[in-house]
Amino acid sequence: MTDTAPSKRLFIKTYGCQMNVYDSERMADVLRPLGYAITEEAEGADLVVLNTCHIREKAAEKVYSELGRIKAMKARKADAGGAMTIAVAGCVAQAEGEEIMIRQPAVDLVVGPQAYHQLPELIARAHRARGERLSAEFAADEKFDALPKARHAGGVTAFLTVQEGCDKFCTFCVVPYTRGAEFSRPVGDIVAEAEDLARQGVREVTLLGQNVNAYAGEGGLAGLVRRLAQVDGLDRIRYTTSHPRDMDEALIAAHGEVEALMPYLHLPVQAGADRVLRAMNRGHTAASYLKLVEKIRAARPDMALSGDFIVGFPGETEKEFQATLDLVSEVKYGSAFAFKYSKRPGTPAAAMPGQVAEEVKEERLARLLALLSEQQAAFNAAQVGRTLPVLFERPGRKAGQVVGRSPYLQPVHIEGPQSLIGRIAPVAISASAKGSLTGSLAEDPAMALA
Ligand code: SAH
Ligand code: SF4
Ligand code: F3S
Repeated sequence: MTDTAPSKRLFIKTYGCQMNVYDSERMADVLRPLGYAITEEAEGADLVVLNTCHIREKAAEKVYSELGRIKAMKARKADAGGAMTIAVAGCVAQAEGEEIMIRQPAVDLVVGPQAYHQLPELIARAHRARGERLSAEFAADEKFDALPKARHAGGVTAFLTVQEGCDKFCTFCVVPYTRGAEFSRPVGDIVAEAEDLARQGVREVTLLGQNVNAYAGEGGLAGLVRRLAQVDGLDRIRYTTSHPRDMDEALIAAHGEVEALMPYLHLPVQAGADRVLRAMNRGHTAASYLKLVEKIRAARPDMALSGDFIVGFPGETEKEFQATLDLVSEVKYGSAFAFKYSKRPGTPAAAMPGQVAEEVKEERLARLLALLSEQQAAFNAAQVGRTLPVLFERPGRKAGQVVGRSPYLQPVHIEGPQSLIGRIAPVAISASAKGSLTGSLAEDPAMALA
Protein backbone atom coordinates (compact mmCIF):
# COMPACT_ATOMS: atom_id res chain seq x y z
CA MET A 1 0.00 0.00 0.00
CA THR A 2 1.37 3.37 -1.00
CA ASP A 3 -1.22 5.60 0.60
CA THR A 4 -0.46 8.34 3.06
CA ALA A 5 1.57 6.90 5.92
CA PRO A 6 -0.98 5.46 8.33
CA SER A 7 -0.73 7.22 11.64
CA LYS A 8 -4.21 6.75 13.05
CA ARG A 9 -6.03 3.52 13.74
CA LEU A 10 -9.57 3.06 12.46
CA PHE A 11 -11.83 0.26 13.67
CA ILE A 12 -15.09 -0.32 11.79
CA LYS A 13 -17.67 -2.85 12.90
CA THR A 14 -20.34 -3.64 10.34
CA TYR A 15 -23.85 -4.90 11.08
CA GLY A 16 -26.74 -5.66 8.71
CA CYS A 17 -26.82 -6.11 4.97
CA GLN A 18 -24.21 -6.06 2.20
CA MET A 19 -24.92 -2.40 1.54
CA ASN A 20 -23.46 -1.68 4.93
CA VAL A 21 -20.40 -3.78 4.05
CA TYR A 22 -19.97 -1.66 0.93
CA ASP A 23 -20.50 1.56 2.89
CA SER A 24 -17.91 0.53 5.49
CA GLU A 25 -15.35 0.07 2.72
CA ARG A 26 -16.23 3.47 1.32
CA MET A 27 -15.88 5.07 4.77
CA ALA A 28 -12.40 3.58 4.97
CA ASP A 29 -11.70 5.06 1.51
CA VAL A 30 -12.85 8.51 2.69
CA LEU A 31 -10.69 8.36 5.81
CA ARG A 32 -7.54 6.85 4.28
CA PRO A 33 -6.26 10.19 2.92
CA LEU A 34 -6.57 11.57 6.46
CA GLY A 35 -4.08 8.97 7.64
CA TYR A 36 -6.53 6.42 9.04
CA ALA A 37 -5.59 2.77 8.51
CA ILE A 38 -7.87 -0.15 9.38
CA THR A 39 -7.18 -2.07 12.56
CA GLU A 40 -8.88 -5.32 13.56
CA GLU A 41 -8.97 -4.29 17.24
CA ALA A 42 -11.29 -1.71 18.77
CA GLU A 43 -9.11 -1.49 21.89
CA GLY A 44 -6.77 1.47 21.49
CA ALA A 45 -8.20 2.65 18.16
CA ASP A 46 -8.27 6.39 17.42
CA LEU A 47 -11.61 6.17 15.68
CA VAL A 48 -14.30 3.53 16.19
CA VAL A 49 -17.18 3.41 13.72
CA LEU A 50 -20.19 1.19 14.31
CA ASN A 51 -22.03 0.82 11.01
CA THR A 52 -25.42 -0.22 12.29
CA CYS A 53 -28.60 -2.00 11.24
CA HIS A 54 -32.15 -1.20 12.32
CA ILE A 55 -34.02 -3.98 10.55
CA ARG A 56 -35.03 -5.96 13.65
CA GLU A 57 -35.13 -5.00 17.30
CA LYS A 58 -32.24 -7.31 18.17
CA ALA A 59 -30.01 -5.73 15.54
CA ALA A 60 -30.57 -2.27 16.98
CA GLU A 61 -30.14 -3.39 20.59
CA LYS A 62 -26.79 -5.05 19.81
CA VAL A 63 -25.42 -1.62 18.98
CA TYR A 64 -26.08 -0.28 22.46
CA SER A 65 -24.44 -3.21 24.20
CA GLU A 66 -21.42 -2.85 21.91
CA LEU A 67 -21.32 0.88 22.69
CA GLY A 68 -21.11 0.01 26.38
CA ARG A 69 -17.96 -2.02 25.73
CA ILE A 70 -16.43 0.67 23.48
CA LYS A 71 -17.14 3.32 26.10
CA ALA A 72 -14.92 1.40 28.56
CA MET A 73 -12.15 1.28 25.94
CA LYS A 74 -12.50 5.02 25.39
CA ALA A 75 -12.09 5.57 29.13
CA ARG A 76 -9.00 3.32 29.24
CA LYS A 77 -7.48 5.22 26.34
CA ALA A 78 -8.20 8.56 28.03
CA ASP A 79 -6.56 7.29 31.24
CA ALA A 80 -3.47 6.51 29.19
CA GLY A 81 -3.48 10.07 27.84
CA GLY A 82 -4.97 9.23 24.43
CA ALA A 83 -8.27 9.98 22.74
CA MET A 84 -10.84 7.78 21.03
CA THR A 85 -13.60 9.15 18.80
CA ILE A 86 -16.76 7.05 18.63
CA ALA A 87 -19.01 7.33 15.58
CA VAL A 88 -22.35 5.63 14.99
CA ALA A 89 -23.17 5.26 11.29
CA GLY A 90 -25.79 3.33 9.33
CA CYS A 91 -29.49 2.76 9.77
CA VAL A 92 -29.72 3.13 13.57
CA ALA A 93 -27.98 6.49 13.14
CA GLN A 94 -30.57 7.48 10.57
CA ALA A 95 -33.54 6.21 12.57
CA GLU A 96 -32.56 7.42 16.02
CA GLY A 97 -30.26 10.37 15.31
CA GLU A 98 -29.22 12.40 18.33
CA GLU A 99 -31.19 10.09 20.64
CA ILE A 100 -28.15 7.82 20.43
CA MET A 101 -25.96 10.47 22.07
CA ILE A 102 -28.52 10.94 24.81
CA ARG A 103 -28.67 7.22 25.49
CA GLN A 104 -24.90 6.78 25.23
CA PRO A 105 -23.04 10.06 25.84
CA ALA A 106 -19.68 8.49 24.96
CA VAL A 107 -20.74 8.72 21.29
CA ASP A 108 -19.04 11.70 19.59
CA LEU A 109 -20.87 11.74 16.30
CA VAL A 110 -23.79 10.23 14.44
CA VAL A 111 -23.76 9.97 10.67
CA GLY A 112 -26.55 8.65 8.44
CA PRO A 113 -26.02 6.45 5.36
CA GLN A 114 -26.18 9.35 2.91
CA ALA A 115 -23.61 11.51 4.64
CA TYR A 116 -20.41 9.46 4.77
CA HIS A 117 -18.58 11.92 2.55
CA GLN A 118 -18.97 14.41 5.41
CA LEU A 119 -17.12 12.16 7.84
CA PRO A 120 -13.79 14.07 7.74
CA GLU A 121 -15.58 17.29 8.58
CA LEU A 122 -17.67 15.65 11.31
CA ILE A 123 -14.60 14.12 12.86
CA ALA A 124 -12.80 17.46 12.81
CA ARG A 125 -15.79 19.00 14.51
CA ALA A 126 -15.92 16.27 17.13
CA HIS A 127 -12.26 16.82 17.76
CA ARG A 128 -12.88 20.48 18.38
CA ALA A 129 -15.85 19.37 20.47
CA ARG A 130 -18.14 22.05 19.17
CA GLY A 131 -20.77 22.72 16.52
CA GLU A 132 -23.52 20.32 15.47
CA ARG A 133 -22.54 16.71 15.48
CA LEU A 134 -25.37 15.16 13.56
CA SER A 135 -25.49 14.69 9.84
CA ALA A 136 -28.24 12.49 8.56
CA GLU A 137 -29.94 14.29 5.69
CA PHE A 138 -30.79 12.38 2.54
CA ALA A 139 -28.89 13.25 -0.59
CA ALA A 140 -27.84 10.00 -2.20
CA ASP A 141 -26.71 11.74 -5.40
CA GLU A 142 -24.34 13.97 -3.44
CA LYS A 143 -23.01 11.01 -1.52
CA PHE A 144 -21.80 9.16 -4.59
CA ASP A 145 -20.45 12.31 -6.25
CA ALA A 146 -18.49 13.32 -3.19
CA LEU A 147 -16.92 9.97 -2.31
CA PRO A 148 -13.39 9.46 -3.56
CA LYS A 149 -13.41 7.90 -7.03
CA ALA A 150 -10.74 5.34 -6.25
CA ARG A 151 -11.66 2.20 -4.40
CA HIS A 152 -9.45 -0.08 -2.47
CA ALA A 153 -10.27 -3.61 -3.58
CA GLY A 154 -9.57 -6.15 -0.88
CA GLY A 155 -9.82 -9.39 -2.83
CA VAL A 156 -11.17 -11.39 -5.71
CA THR A 157 -14.82 -10.46 -5.23
CA ALA A 158 -16.33 -7.07 -4.47
CA PHE A 159 -19.63 -5.41 -3.74
CA LEU A 160 -20.70 -2.49 -5.87
CA THR A 161 -23.69 -0.39 -4.86
CA VAL A 162 -25.74 0.62 -7.91
CA GLN A 163 -29.03 1.55 -6.29
CA GLU A 164 -30.06 2.72 -2.85
CA GLY A 165 -33.26 3.28 -1.00
CA CYS A 166 -36.72 1.84 -1.28
CA ASP A 167 -40.13 3.13 -2.39
CA LYS A 168 -41.99 -0.12 -1.70
CA PHE A 169 -43.02 0.48 1.92
CA CYS A 170 -43.65 -3.09 2.98
CA THR A 171 -45.59 -2.53 6.18
CA PHE A 172 -43.06 -4.33 8.41
CA CYS A 173 -39.90 -2.66 7.13
CA VAL A 174 -37.77 0.31 8.23
CA VAL A 175 -35.63 0.52 5.09
CA PRO A 176 -37.73 3.13 3.24
CA TYR A 177 -37.30 5.35 6.33
CA THR A 178 -33.62 4.70 7.00
CA ARG A 179 -32.36 4.67 3.41
CA GLY A 180 -34.78 7.08 1.80
CA ALA A 181 -36.23 7.10 -1.71
CA GLU A 182 -34.96 4.89 -4.53
CA PHE A 183 -31.94 6.35 -6.25
CA SER A 184 -29.91 4.81 -9.07
CA ARG A 185 -26.30 5.68 -9.91
CA PRO A 186 -25.52 6.52 -13.55
CA VAL A 187 -24.23 3.65 -15.72
CA GLY A 188 -20.96 5.46 -16.49
CA ASP A 189 -20.02 5.82 -12.83
CA ILE A 190 -20.73 2.16 -12.14
CA VAL A 191 -18.77 0.98 -15.17
CA ALA A 192 -15.81 3.15 -14.13
CA GLU A 193 -15.89 1.69 -10.63
CA ALA A 194 -16.14 -1.86 -12.00
CA GLU A 195 -13.18 -1.24 -14.33
CA ASP A 196 -11.17 0.10 -11.43
CA LEU A 197 -12.00 -3.01 -9.39
CA ALA A 198 -11.15 -5.34 -12.29
CA ARG A 199 -7.76 -3.63 -12.68
CA GLN A 200 -7.10 -4.47 -9.04
CA GLY A 201 -7.77 -8.14 -9.66
CA VAL A 202 -11.48 -8.38 -8.84
CA ARG A 203 -13.07 -11.14 -10.93
CA GLU A 204 -16.60 -11.05 -9.54
CA VAL A 205 -18.86 -8.14 -8.61
CA THR A 206 -22.11 -8.29 -6.72
CA LEU A 207 -24.28 -5.33 -7.65
CA LEU A 208 -26.09 -4.06 -4.59
CA GLY A 209 -29.33 -2.26 -3.97
CA GLN A 210 -32.20 -2.54 -1.51
CA ASN A 211 -34.22 -3.02 -4.68
CA VAL A 212 -31.45 -3.66 -7.10
CA ASN A 213 -33.70 -4.82 -9.91
CA ALA A 214 -35.57 -1.50 -9.74
CA TYR A 215 -32.31 0.01 -11.03
CA ALA A 216 -33.48 2.96 -13.13
CA GLY A 217 -30.28 3.94 -14.91
CA GLU A 218 -30.22 3.72 -18.71
CA GLY A 219 -31.14 0.23 -19.89
CA GLY A 220 -32.29 -0.89 -16.45
CA LEU A 221 -30.50 -3.63 -14.57
CA ALA A 222 -30.46 -5.92 -17.61
CA GLY A 223 -28.66 -3.24 -19.64
CA LEU A 224 -26.20 -2.62 -16.83
CA VAL A 225 -25.42 -6.32 -16.51
CA ARG A 226 -24.83 -6.63 -20.25
CA ARG A 227 -22.52 -3.61 -20.17
CA LEU A 228 -20.55 -4.90 -17.16
CA ALA A 229 -20.18 -8.31 -18.81
CA GLN A 230 -17.91 -6.52 -21.32
CA VAL A 231 -15.51 -5.23 -18.66
CA ASP A 232 -12.16 -6.88 -19.13
CA GLY A 233 -11.35 -9.30 -16.34
CA LEU A 234 -14.82 -9.35 -14.81
CA ASP A 235 -15.99 -12.92 -15.23
CA ARG A 236 -18.85 -13.10 -12.81
CA ILE A 237 -21.75 -10.79 -12.05
CA ARG A 238 -24.33 -11.19 -9.32
CA TYR A 239 -26.91 -8.81 -7.91
CA THR A 240 -28.95 -8.55 -4.74
CA THR A 241 -31.60 -7.93 -3.39
CA SER A 242 -34.41 -8.19 -5.89
CA HIS A 243 -38.08 -7.52 -5.46
CA PRO A 244 -40.43 -9.89 -7.31
CA ARG A 245 -42.37 -6.88 -8.64
CA ASP A 246 -39.32 -5.51 -10.46
CA MET A 247 -38.16 -8.73 -12.09
CA ASP A 248 -38.77 -7.70 -15.71
CA GLU A 249 -38.62 -9.67 -18.98
CA ALA A 250 -35.31 -8.09 -20.02
CA LEU A 251 -33.62 -9.21 -16.82
CA ILE A 252 -35.05 -12.71 -17.05
CA ALA A 253 -33.84 -12.91 -20.66
CA ALA A 254 -30.36 -11.75 -19.59
CA HIS A 255 -30.17 -14.76 -17.27
CA GLY A 256 -30.53 -17.02 -20.28
CA GLU A 257 -28.04 -15.13 -22.45
CA VAL A 258 -25.28 -13.46 -20.42
CA GLU A 259 -22.67 -16.01 -19.48
CA ALA A 260 -21.14 -13.86 -16.75
CA LEU A 261 -24.48 -13.55 -14.97
CA MET A 262 -24.43 -16.24 -12.31
CA PRO A 263 -27.35 -18.67 -11.87
CA TYR A 264 -28.21 -17.61 -8.35
CA LEU A 265 -31.02 -15.27 -7.44
CA HIS A 266 -32.10 -13.92 -4.07
CA LEU A 267 -35.80 -13.27 -4.56
CA PRO A 268 -37.57 -12.75 -1.22
CA VAL A 269 -41.23 -13.71 -1.06
CA GLN A 270 -41.70 -13.17 2.74
CA ALA A 271 -44.86 -15.29 3.07
CA GLY A 272 -47.09 -17.74 1.24
CA ALA A 273 -50.62 -16.59 2.14
CA ASP A 274 -52.18 -13.90 -0.02
CA ARG A 275 -53.94 -12.19 2.89
CA VAL A 276 -50.61 -11.82 4.67
CA LEU A 277 -48.85 -10.64 1.49
CA ARG A 278 -51.55 -8.00 1.07
CA ALA A 279 -51.23 -6.87 4.68
CA MET A 280 -47.48 -6.68 4.11
CA ASN A 281 -48.09 -4.47 1.04
CA ARG A 282 -45.84 -6.73 -1.04
CA GLY A 283 -47.63 -6.16 -4.34
CA HIS A 284 -47.47 -9.81 -5.37
CA THR A 285 -49.42 -12.96 -4.60
CA ALA A 286 -48.15 -16.46 -3.98
CA ALA A 287 -49.37 -17.47 -7.46
CA SER A 288 -47.69 -14.52 -9.21
CA TYR A 289 -44.44 -15.33 -7.40
CA LEU A 290 -44.61 -18.99 -8.44
CA LYS A 291 -45.35 -17.96 -12.02
CA LEU A 292 -42.31 -15.69 -11.95
CA VAL A 293 -40.10 -18.49 -10.65
CA GLU A 294 -41.34 -20.69 -13.48
CA LYS A 295 -40.42 -18.03 -16.06
CA ILE A 296 -36.97 -17.56 -14.55
CA ARG A 297 -36.33 -21.29 -14.60
CA ALA A 298 -37.49 -21.46 -18.20
CA ALA A 299 -34.78 -18.93 -19.09
CA ARG A 300 -32.13 -20.52 -16.86
CA PRO A 301 -33.08 -24.07 -15.85
CA ASP A 302 -30.32 -24.47 -13.26
CA MET A 303 -31.15 -21.22 -11.43
CA ALA A 304 -30.57 -21.52 -7.68
CA LEU A 305 -33.14 -19.54 -5.75
CA SER A 306 -32.78 -17.95 -2.38
CA GLY A 307 -35.27 -16.00 -0.31
CA ASP A 308 -36.27 -14.19 2.86
CA PHE A 309 -39.23 -15.18 5.00
CA ILE A 310 -41.01 -13.60 7.92
CA VAL A 311 -43.00 -15.78 10.31
CA GLY A 312 -45.55 -14.44 12.76
CA PHE A 313 -46.55 -11.30 10.88
CA PRO A 314 -49.49 -9.70 12.75
CA GLY A 315 -52.62 -11.80 12.30
CA GLU A 316 -50.82 -14.78 10.75
CA THR A 317 -52.84 -17.93 11.46
CA GLU A 318 -51.51 -21.48 11.54
CA LYS A 319 -53.19 -22.09 8.21
CA GLU A 320 -51.53 -19.02 6.71
CA PHE A 321 -48.17 -20.13 8.02
CA GLN A 322 -48.82 -23.51 6.41
CA ALA A 323 -49.19 -21.66 3.09
CA THR A 324 -45.61 -20.41 3.52
CA LEU A 325 -44.41 -24.00 4.01
CA ASP A 326 -46.38 -25.05 0.93
CA LEU A 327 -44.80 -22.33 -1.18
CA VAL A 328 -41.32 -23.30 0.01
CA SER A 329 -42.04 -26.94 -0.83
CA GLU A 330 -43.04 -25.93 -4.31
CA VAL A 331 -40.12 -23.59 -5.07
CA LYS A 332 -37.29 -25.66 -3.57
CA TYR A 333 -34.75 -23.09 -2.41
CA GLY A 334 -30.99 -23.50 -2.60
CA SER A 335 -30.60 -21.33 0.49
CA ALA A 336 -32.76 -18.91 2.44
CA PHE A 337 -33.13 -16.66 5.47
CA ALA A 338 -36.09 -16.74 7.83
CA PHE A 339 -36.92 -14.30 10.60
CA LYS A 340 -39.45 -13.88 13.36
CA TYR A 341 -41.51 -10.77 12.75
CA SER A 342 -40.03 -7.92 14.78
CA LYS A 343 -42.10 -4.85 15.61
CA ARG A 344 -40.39 -1.73 14.27
CA PRO A 345 -41.36 1.68 15.66
CA GLY A 346 -43.17 3.85 13.14
CA THR A 347 -43.98 1.10 10.64
CA PRO A 348 -47.65 0.33 9.89
CA ALA A 349 -47.45 -3.34 10.93
CA ALA A 350 -46.30 -2.39 14.43
CA ALA A 351 -49.77 -0.96 15.07
CA MET A 352 -51.71 -3.84 13.51
CA PRO A 353 -53.96 -6.00 15.67
CA GLY A 354 -53.24 -9.68 16.21
CA GLN A 355 -49.55 -9.47 17.16
CA VAL A 356 -48.37 -13.08 17.35
CA ALA A 357 -47.03 -14.51 20.62
CA GLU A 358 -43.28 -15.06 20.86
CA GLU A 359 -43.64 -18.85 21.47
CA VAL A 360 -45.76 -19.20 18.35
CA LYS A 361 -43.18 -17.31 16.29
CA GLU A 362 -40.41 -19.49 17.72
CA GLU A 363 -42.24 -22.67 16.87
CA ARG A 364 -43.08 -21.56 13.31
CA LEU A 365 -39.53 -20.38 12.71
CA ALA A 366 -38.15 -23.76 13.79
CA ARG A 367 -40.47 -25.61 11.41
CA LEU A 368 -39.66 -23.32 8.50
CA LEU A 369 -35.92 -23.47 9.16
CA ALA A 370 -36.05 -27.27 9.28
CA LEU A 371 -37.67 -27.37 5.84
CA LEU A 372 -35.30 -24.78 4.38
CA SER A 373 -32.25 -26.52 5.73
CA GLU A 374 -33.45 -29.84 4.29
CA GLN A 375 -33.80 -28.13 0.91
CA GLN A 376 -30.37 -26.57 1.14
CA ALA A 377 -28.79 -29.93 1.96
CA ALA A 378 -30.62 -31.53 -0.98
CA PHE A 379 -29.53 -28.76 -3.32
CA ASN A 380 -25.90 -29.15 -2.27
CA ALA A 381 -26.06 -32.94 -2.48
CA ALA A 382 -27.33 -32.62 -6.06
CA GLN A 383 -23.96 -31.12 -7.05
CA VAL A 384 -22.02 -34.25 -6.09
CA GLY A 385 -20.67 -35.88 -9.23
CA ARG A 386 -20.85 -32.65 -11.26
CA THR A 387 -17.87 -30.59 -12.36
CA LEU A 388 -18.35 -26.91 -11.52
CA PRO A 389 -16.30 -23.83 -12.37
CA VAL A 390 -15.06 -22.44 -9.06
CA LEU A 391 -13.69 -18.95 -8.49
CA PHE A 392 -11.05 -19.33 -5.80
CA GLU A 393 -11.08 -16.55 -3.23
CA ARG A 394 -8.94 -17.38 -0.21
CA PRO A 395 -6.85 -19.92 1.65
CA GLY A 396 -8.82 -22.47 3.65
CA ARG A 397 -8.55 -22.93 7.39
CA LYS A 398 -6.42 -26.05 6.98
CA ALA A 399 -2.97 -25.83 5.40
CA GLY A 400 -2.97 -26.66 1.69
CA GLN A 401 -6.64 -25.84 1.33
CA VAL A 402 -8.17 -23.22 -0.95
CA VAL A 403 -11.76 -22.02 -0.89
CA GLY A 404 -13.86 -20.64 -3.68
CA ARG A 405 -17.46 -20.37 -4.79
CA SER A 406 -19.53 -22.31 -7.27
CA PRO A 407 -21.77 -20.42 -9.72
CA TYR A 408 -24.58 -21.10 -7.20
CA LEU A 409 -22.64 -19.27 -4.47
CA GLN A 410 -21.83 -22.45 -2.53
CA PRO A 411 -18.44 -22.40 -0.80
CA VAL A 412 -16.18 -25.09 -2.34
CA HIS A 413 -13.13 -26.44 -0.48
CA ILE A 414 -10.30 -28.26 -2.22
CA GLU A 415 -6.71 -29.28 -1.57
CA GLY A 416 -4.69 -27.21 -4.01
CA PRO A 417 -2.04 -24.55 -4.58
CA GLN A 418 -2.63 -21.03 -3.24
CA SER A 419 -1.85 -19.80 -6.76
CA LEU A 420 -5.44 -20.76 -7.61
CA ILE A 421 -6.68 -17.70 -5.72
CA GLY A 422 -8.08 -15.21 -8.20
CA ARG A 423 -8.68 -17.90 -10.81
CA ILE A 424 -11.61 -19.92 -12.04
CA ALA A 425 -10.94 -23.65 -12.33
CA PRO A 426 -13.12 -26.71 -12.84
CA VAL A 427 -13.71 -28.76 -9.72
CA ALA A 428 -15.13 -32.27 -9.57
CA ILE A 429 -17.50 -32.17 -6.60
CA SER A 430 -17.11 -35.25 -4.43
CA ALA A 431 -19.03 -34.46 -1.26
CA SER A 432 -21.49 -32.00 0.21
CA ALA A 433 -22.39 -30.72 3.62
CA LYS A 434 -25.29 -28.46 4.58
CA GLY A 435 -23.32 -25.29 3.92
CA SER A 436 -20.52 -26.23 1.54
CA LEU A 437 -19.03 -28.58 -1.05
CA THR A 438 -15.70 -30.35 -1.35
CA GLY A 439 -13.93 -31.69 -4.41
CA SER A 440 -10.72 -31.75 -6.38
CA LEU A 441 -9.37 -30.01 -9.45
CA ALA A 442 -10.90 -31.69 -12.46
CA GLU A 443 -7.91 -31.12 -14.72
CA ASP A 444 -4.22 -30.72 -14.38
CA PRO A 445 -3.98 -27.45 -12.42
CA ALA A 446 -1.42 -26.09 -14.88
CA MET A 447 -4.00 -26.50 -17.62
CA ALA A 448 -6.73 -24.93 -15.52
CA LEU A 449 -4.46 -21.97 -14.86
CA ALA A 450 -3.47 -21.47 -18.49
N1 SAH B 1 -34.81 -5.00 0.25
C1 SAH B 1 -34.78 -6.34 0.51
C2 SAH B 1 -34.36 -6.74 1.89
C3 SAH B 1 -34.74 -5.92 3.05
S1 SAH B 1 -34.28 -6.38 4.65
C4 SAH B 1 -36.08 -6.94 0.09
O1 SAH B 1 -37.05 -6.27 -0.11
O2 SAH B 1 -36.12 -8.12 -0.05
C5 SAH B 1 -33.94 -8.09 4.59
C6 SAH B 1 -35.02 -8.95 5.14
O3 SAH B 1 -35.26 -8.68 6.49
C7 SAH B 1 -36.36 -8.79 4.48
O4 SAH B 1 -36.44 -9.44 3.26
C8 SAH B 1 -37.28 -9.37 5.50
O5 SAH B 1 -37.43 -10.76 5.33
C9 SAH B 1 -36.56 -9.12 6.81
N2 SAH B 1 -37.23 -8.10 7.61
C10 SAH B 1 -37.45 -6.81 7.30
N3 SAH B 1 -38.15 -6.19 8.28
C11 SAH B 1 -38.40 -7.12 9.23
C12 SAH B 1 -39.10 -7.10 10.46
N4 SAH B 1 -39.70 -6.01 10.92
N5 SAH B 1 -39.14 -8.26 11.18
C13 SAH B 1 -38.55 -9.39 10.72
N6 SAH B 1 -37.89 -9.45 9.56
C14 SAH B 1 -37.82 -8.34 8.81
FE1 SF4 C 1 -38.10 -3.35 3.02
FE2 SF4 C 1 -39.99 -4.12 1.33
FE3 SF4 C 1 -38.31 -2.20 0.63
FE4 SF4 C 1 -37.46 -4.69 0.83
S1 SF4 C 1 -38.98 -3.93 -0.64
S2 SF4 C 1 -36.45 -2.88 1.61
S3 SF4 C 1 -38.64 -5.46 2.53
S4 SF4 C 1 -39.81 -2.08 2.23
FE1 F3S D 1 -30.12 -3.12 8.14
FE2 F3S D 1 -30.13 -0.79 7.02
FE3 F3S D 1 -29.31 -2.89 5.66
S1 F3S D 1 -31.63 -1.54 8.40
S2 F3S D 1 -30.53 -4.52 6.53
S3 F3S D 1 -28.35 -2.05 7.42
S4 F3S D 1 -30.48 -1.18 4.88
